[in-house]
Amino acid sequence: MHTVLYPGSFDPITSGHLDLIARAAACFDEVIVGVLYNAQKQAGTFPVAQRLALIEKATAHLKGVRAQAFTGLLVDAARDCGAQAVIRGLRTISDVDIELQMARLNLLMGGVETLMLASSPEVVHINATMVREIGRLGGNLHGFVPASVHDEIASHLCTIGAPKA
Ligand code: PNS
Repeated sequence: MHTVLYPGSFDPITSGHLDLIARAAACFDEVIVGVLYNAQKQAGTFPVAQRLALIEKATAHLKGVRAQAFTGLLVDAARDCGAQAVIRGLRTISDVDIELQMARLNLLMGGVETLMLASSPEVVHINATMVREIGRLGGNLHGFVPASVHDEIASHLCTIGAPKA
């Protein structure tokens, strides 16, 4: 049984995340989408329980995928869920530095291997920060987030509204 952990904030899940999850699900028996959060830090835009529910709904058509919340170190999360490796996506060259640094630290700290997948060209421009901003300003999120969870994400962001000046 080959299990991988795909860690991230997923605040909220985007079409870029879903692309990676689907491709990982085609390669491994089990993909655990790990919502990593810091209990000491600000809560984020979507509550962790809602992020998990959005991931579950968006990935319902994929076999072997489940979502789980973790707090603390990624190496501990990987060990606790029995993952043989962690997967991360690479969109642009600017992702490479930070991802290499994290991969090396996680290897050193916990012997955790990181497998990096190149993002598909159709979704390379998407990130959760932009999704949050576009949604809060009332922009169109179609294509940027999975269709099955579009309305829930758009209405949550719209309700929060634009950041105060
Ligand atoms: O979606 P993100 O924000 O790119 O995900 C970053 C994440 C959650 C994977 C990273 O911040 C992380 O691993 N956090 C857990 C704490 C930890 O282990 N930090 C050391 C990483 S080398």
